[in-house]
Amino acid sequence: MHLKGKAAVVTGAGRGIGRAIALLLAKEGASVIVVDPGVGRGGEKTEERPADDVVAEIVKAGGKAQANYDSVAEYLKAGLMIKQCVDAYGKIDILVNVAGNLRERMIWNMSEDDFDSVIAVHLKGNWNTCHHAVKYMRQAGHGRIINFSSDAFKGSVGQCNYSAAKAGIIGLTRSISKETYKNGITANAICPSADTRMTLTPEVKENRRRKFEAGLLTKEQYELTLQNRGPEYIAPMVAYLATDQADTINGQVFHVERGRINTEIFGDDFKFLHKWDNEGMFTVSELIESVPGSLMTGIVPVVPQVKMADAVSSTAPKKEKTA
Ligand SMILES: NC(=O)c1ccc[n+]([C@@H]2O[C@H](COP(=O)([O-])OP(=O)(O)OC[C@H]3O[C@@H](n4cnc5c(N)ncnc54)[C@H](O)[C@@H]3O)[C@@H](O)[C@H]2O)c1
Repeated sequence: MHLKGKAAVVTGAGRGIGRAIALLLAKEGASVIVVDPGVGRGGEKTEERPADDVVAEIVKAGGKAQANYDSVAEYLKAGLMIKQCVDAYGKIDILVNVAGNLRERMIWNMSEDDFDSVIAVHLKGNWNTCHHAVKYMRQAGHGRIINFSSDAFKGSVGQCNYSAAKAGIIGLTRSISKETYKNGITANAICPSADTRMTLTPEVKENRRRKFEAGLLTKEQYELTLQNRGPEYIAPMVAYLATDQADTINGQVFHVERGRINTEIFGDDFKFLHKWDNEGMFTVSELIESVPGSLMTGIVPVVPQVKMADAVSSTAPKKEKTA
């Protein structure tokens, strides 16, 4: 167990990638607040409570978890989800921001609500939880923040709201990494690729089949799209970044998918770790062993801007709204 005694908040943890992360963090010994209001793909309300299922799964396996059904987009509610972790487990060591919705339209068809909703959940939601969590983490002198961006940050047709939010999350994460490293807090971002309800819609499957039939995909390429690229392949890198051993990995952006992890420098792939199909998944132990000497070689560490941070923090407002 690499996270024994740690306390974590994972947002969007009822389904997909967030669920896989919550299950692995718990398996590695962390107590987890499973945040998920159970909304639809576009953020619409449903009667579903997937957070309850994930909590039940963790508890059945002998772990500790509690559900939270609030939205990360709400400032005060985000504060309360962090406080729930501190009240239940005495602290917050790990924050993983996975919650996400999608409203895909070309810019000329996108409504103001489509734009605001996606920015509110992804960009403002990440800021909300980080803002509240960092206050506790600074006092403790320890923290791990892992935020979910997307390769769409480079620009993506039909997703200008989403790609703007995801690019914003990279700037947010790198800024936090510079402001808080001197307090023992690291912040990194992940651009994942996995089959979930967000990516594997019937339309997407049908489009791939049509591309294959039209000769735009080779048989090998098409067959690759049919193999399991489940969210469980994303979780080990997140668990690794949450360990004490990853204390020097800060301000980085990683792409993670089945069989591949790579560093990204301003949108360009830099260093890779690979696993072939017959080699199974990366494990946390393997990543502790191999990431510093492979992915991190040649990467200039984010410089903690201590003097700048001290100067700016002395100008902080005296009275703050708190949860
Ligand atoms: N799946 C991929 O290939 C892929 C690619 C790039 C980026 N991402 C990012 O990874 C993250 C997880 O995506 P996924 O594929 O697992 O999606 P998913 O739809 O399976 O899961 C997202 C979860 O977030 C929850 N959620 C939505 N709005 C919320 C809110 N306001 N507060 C709290 N929870 C909320 C949903 O209820 C859902 O359970 C997202 O941030 C997504 O943008 C995924």
